[in-house]
Amino acid sequence: MCGIVGYKGKDKAIEVVLNGLKNLEYRGYDSAGIAYVQGNKIKIKKAQGKLFNLEENFKNKIESNLAIGHTRWATHGEPNQINAHPHRVGNITIVHNGIIENYNELKNKLNYQSKSDTDTEILAAYINDEYQKNKNILEVLKNINKDIIGSYAVGIIVDNDDSLYCIRKDSPLIIGLAESEYFIASDVPAILDYTNEYYILENDEYAKIADRVDVYKNGKEIKKKKNIFEFDMEAAKKNGYEHYMLKEIMEQPTVLYNTLAAYKNSDDLVDLSKYSEIDIVGCGSAYHVGMAVKYIMEEKFNLPVNVEIASEYRYKKVFYTSKHLVIVISQSGETADTLAALMKAKNLGIETLAIVNVVGSTIAREADKVLYIKAGVEKAVATTKAYTCQLLLLLMLCYRNDLKIFDKLNDDVNDVLSKIDMFKKISKKIINGKDVFFLGRLDDYSYCLEGSLKLKEISYIHSEAYAAGELKHGTISLVEENTPVISIITNKIIADKTISNIKEVKARGAYNVIITNQKIPNDLADEIIYIDNKKEYVGILVIICLQLLAYYSALELGRDIDMPRNLAKSVTVE
Ligand code: G6P
Repeated sequence: MCGIVGYKGKDKAIEVVLNGLKNLEYRGYDSAGIAYVQGNKIKIKKAQGKLFNLEENFKNKIESNLAIGHTRWATHGEPNQINAHPHRVGNITIVHNGIIENYNELKNKLNYQSKSDTDTEILAAYINDEYQKNKNILEVLKNINKDIIGSYAVGIIVDNDDSLYCIRKDSPLIIGLAESEYFIASDVPAILDYTNEYYILENDEYAKIADRVDVYKNGKEIKKKKNIFEFDMEAAKKNGYEHYMLKEIMEQPTVLYNTLAAYKNSDDLVDLSKYSEIDIVGCGSAYHVGMAVKYIMEEKFNLPVNVEIASEYRYKKVFYTSKHLVIVISQSGETADTLAALMKAKNLGIETLAIVNVVGSTIAREADKVLYIKAGVEKAVATTKAYTCQLLLLLMLCYRNDLKIFDKLNDDVNDVLSKIDMFKKISKKIINGKDVFFLGRLDDYSYCLEGSLKLKEISYIHSEAYAAGELKHGTISLVEENTPVISIITNKIIADKTISNIKEVKARGAYNVIITNQKIPNDLADEIIYIDNKKEYVGILVIICLQLLAYYSALELGRDIDMPRNLAKSVTVE
């Protein structure tokens, strides 16, 4: 995901900003840029690819006391030099993290001709337009939320003004504090080589940084509390969390919001009703996403949806019609089997659509059409935020005419994430099991597949997901006193059936954990995780519960959570 660094102070602005950007490299990026003040002029250098390409411009030392820099992880437009930040329009030069949802509307209103494909350039054009009215940048920042819809952390330099300005809404920004030196940054690691003292900007707060820092909200000055970061760089990269996996679980409200915002006002969401049959293909968790959406898609569009494991699909006979669509799902966009399945479909002349996280990856380039999720870089081997963003995007395809149903998603996700203590408590019991079973039917069964995979891959406890009705055809023989059984019931139609199956394992002594949004008999569960939500996206909430159960089980067992044994993040071999 993108990174912001800015500096105001002594003559080493370029050195500080480049160093800060380097310390944000772990977030992933595909281009970078820097704007700095030299004499009375603002100069901009940008480069595609890694930071050393940008550094080429600074072989000869340049003295500057004010600069802003950015590493860009493409969301709007290709990862090239033109789209890289900073963007400059009129007297305004900015770097931006986040998404401007109404950028098309603004562009038309301003009648602005863009040079790049980015929403950020339109934001710069907007700020410049407002600035020209009375040349008061603080006034512009005070009112920005009246016109701009979306999320933004922005660093701003104004022509002929020796101050650094910044503002944030729904995208993090901090102001670092040292002796006669000030920093802005999207994350703490960017400033740690110079200071560990900083302010956190809250939503709609903006600041002027000159020889002191003045923070405002709605035109009123705010007194900020200084924070002190007491951990090391590695901890900072994990945002203070013990593992990348937990950091990524906790990032889900933001990345789900970003995914939603990216398509809310666009025509990119494909109309699936025009097809007669759909195959969804992927590996691992990506395959489970397909399973999760299959039943919803079939009901919604009244067409068959076949969900296939990519390593199988590539070798099997594929039946297809002229109105057939193959959807491939891949976080990395590089998984060998998924790519082979995609190429097979293309060679058969079937239309293909890829749901991918990594911009410009092979699968993204090869598919007829690609829709990017906005999960940002995922570091932990066990996928979490990419899964939920993939599921969200597929649900958005199902409900493309009614995206309002997702309006409360963020709040609901935050609600699940606030129940950490309950997940910790249940995990302590789960880890006593030799085997753990996950039971559910239809879409609930698909969540079981993902929950079971998460648990076994990071805790190394054997687990299996079962379509609830199947258990008694053999596997129930493994259920004994205290065997953990995690059942999921969100689908009302089959709720009673799954309840009967839970009774069967209860009679054999199972330790029953039930995740549900339905009313269930009082004495059935040892633990209930109740999700007070009947929305179409309830699966996302269930999966987050299962991620947390897996995480805390593995933590309790002292496992290598971010890099479990024998596993790789991106599987580029067959
Ligand atoms: C690996 C990862 C999984 C992922 C699968 C597919 O096994 O550990 O988390 O679901 O590959 O990867 P992709 O990048 O294609 O989604």
